[in-house]
Amino acid sequence: MKQLLDRIIEENRYLTELGKVADYIPALSTANPDDIGVCYIDEKNNLYKSGAYNTKFTIQSISKILTLTLAIMDNGLDRVFEKVGVEGTDEPFNSFVKLDSPNVTKPANPMINAGAIVVTSLIKGDSSNRFQRILDFIRLVTDNDSIGYSEEVYLSEKTTGSRNRAMAYLMSNKGILDGDVEDILDTYFKQCSIEIDVVDLAKIGKFISEGCKGLELSDVSKKELTILLKGILLTSGMYDYSGRYAIEVGIPTKSGVSGGLMGVVPGNRGIGIYSPSLDIHGNSIAGLGIIKSLSKELNLNIFN
Ligand code: DON
Repeated sequence: MKQLLDRIIEENRYLTELGKVADYIPALSTANPDDIGVCYIDEKNNLYKSGAYNTKFTIQSISKILTLTLAIMDNGLDRVFEKVGVEGTDEPFNSFVKLDSPNVTKPANPMINAGAIVVTSLIKGDSSNRFQRILDFIRLVTDNDSIGYSEEVYLSEKTTGSRNRAMAYLMSNKGILDGDVEDILDTYFKQCSIEIDVVDLAKIGKFISEGCKGLELSDVSKKELTILLKGILLTSGMYDYSGRYAIEVGIPTKSGVSGGLMGVVPGNRGIGIYSPSLDIHGNSIAGLGIIKSLSKELNLNIFN
């Protein structure tokens, strides 16, 4: 398996040159485009890693699937999906062009930024312990208490995040977002700045694949939650590339703009990938090549 991962990394390395490291959050622009790391955890908990598996990076949008889980545990499904939809979208992750239309009453799904900001607002707690709860939850899922966040990336996004700020104020104006907008954004920027590595990502994938094992759920059953999380990842985890991705790769996956990919592999397995050069959709370009190769070589496509 280790040799397979080494080979797949090298076969896809050329792709990094066809993409670009994100720079709309200035602190992300210093990432090394040559860093590529992969981790695969199998059903017996064997952990295989290759490349820059020690490199830490910020979780960014991959946090959105975990904040969704927390918000559902806090509120139940009905309350959460009153405020955010479960539909795919052909708009980019940071679009809010449709939100101002009078007949649109919620963001399309919880993976685009607008939907994720609403989800963060639904997590119980005041502004400081809401973030602490998110951090504790990620530490629990990854079994890694050393996880923290990057103050530099957080402040960089907080000071340049006009687009997220604009959509949050629009949603507040329309009654979609309740509470103090700046407080909610602050938590959202911090959750995106949580630092992880590919091993943590593979563990998140395995956790969802295992049916959210270990969670104490009252309002919603773990089975129902897991079906929902996998469905949302498959239909919107890769934004406006999700349809093609579902066919070509067939693994419920979430991307982050710092270059992470977290794959929920059926049969209690998980994949974590890092490569910061991105395609036009904001997804890791070599990461996509790597997960496509893994899906083919290990026969992981859920539609096979
Ligand atoms: O809100 C943002 O724009 C970033 N903190 C997260 C976006 C992101 O990761 C998009 N994913 N590819």
